[in-house]
Amino acid sequence: MKILITGGAGFIGSHVVRHFVNKYPDYQIYNLDKLTYAGNLENLKDVEQASNYHFIKADIVDKDTIFSLFAEHRFDGVIHLAAESHVDRSISNPTEFIMTNIVGTANLLNAAREIWDNTDEKVFYHISTDEVYGSLGETGYFVEDTPYDPRSPYSASKASSDHLVRAYHETYGLPVKISNCSNNFGAFQFPEKLIPLIINNIKHNKPLPIYGEGKNIRDWLFVEDHVQAIDLIFHQGKSGETYNIGGNNEWTNIDLVKKICQIADKKLNRNTPAESLITFVKDRAGHDLRYAIDSSKIQRELGWKPSPDFDALLDKTISWYLENEQWLNSVTSGNYQKYYEKQYAKR
Ligand code: NAD
Ligand code: TYD
Repeated sequence: MKILITGGAGFIGSHVVRHFVNKYPDYQIYNLDKLTYAGNLENLKDVEQASNYHFIKADIVDKDTIFSLFAEHRFDGVIHLAAESHVDRSISNPTEFIMTNIVGTANLLNAAREIWDNTDEKVFYHISTDEVYGSLGETGYFVEDTPYDPRSPYSASKASSDHLVRAYHETYGLPVKISNCSNNFGAFQFPEKLIPLIINNIKHNKPLPIYGEGKNIRDWLFVEDHVQAIDLIFHQGKSGETYNIGGNNEWTNIDLVKKICQIADKKLNRNTPAESLITFVKDRAGHDLRYAIDSSKIQRELGWKPSPDFDALLDKTISWYLENEQWLNSVTSGNYQKYYEKQYAKR
């Protein structure tokens, strides 16, 4: 079986690639990635020599390349993770999101539709986000049929791609699956996202920027739990179906950042508590208040459940960033500094 994983050099993608390469030695895993600022082959050092692992540097927006790769390999399955993924960047540069997330997804769908002849055994699995459902108030949860209400350029581009995936199922009978998950955390996440950004700033004694009053709520999902869900959906999920994946683990940003500070203080043995670095900054435009997932469908139908011990997983995650200094330094050098300056200097 030949599986194409797009975006496999990114945060979640690298965990997915590692899992499939190691767990399924009979599968040939093709990791297609453009290697944007968020893609890093260092994330896959431990599998790059595996005989069932293949890397292809390509851009999903490049239709001709995508078509010729499908024609050459005829992949049996696709797990599509390649995307521009950061809300703040989508606010400053939405076009990149429209191109990669919408046009790039359309190119993959078209290649699958035109090149796959017998689709009975095929799977086109699209990875999406709970942000397509919009913003919750203090109560309620996103379920699979919550109406779409995306509010940022990022979530609007992911919503568009989800709609295209479903439309190709209805119109052309393409065998698709979709999952929408909540905020992931774990090793190898680019430090533009809240958790690794806070850890990196604590490490360098830099201010810890909290948008607005820090009362926004996110439902944090451990990336390895997400990978287990992806494996189950890829192999056992029903064609044409959507599955919501969440951590059942809601935190306000301020409480989460304080928790990270407390854990880091113990590990770093410093005299001044990291909490003193917390700085409230200008809020994100259109900042969604709360995301929370009801994952009972995947729990009931596929027997998945999230790990219960958030404290231990967060502790493990913080240790990973503190111990992998070289990784952190390499991803935060060069362009990251420029990004950080632009994003936070005048906030
Ligand atoms: P990421 O930004 O860490 O990685 C994205 C990867 O896609 C990178 O390796 C990048 O090089 C690659 N890429 C970007 N544009 C490309 C293009 N045009 N062609 C080929 N490759 C390209 O993202 P992530 O956090 O790992 O997210 C993976 C997927 O999961 C995305 O589709 C995202 O929308 C979704 N998702 C992420 C989260 C989260 O918390 N991180 C939550 C819900 C959904
Ligand atoms: P983020 O990790 O960017 O994920 P998303 O916007 O996709 O949920 O942000 C998580 C939460 O943290 C979100 O409410 C915005 C907030 N946040 C900050 O308060 N400060 C920051 O520097 C960042 C990056 C995020």
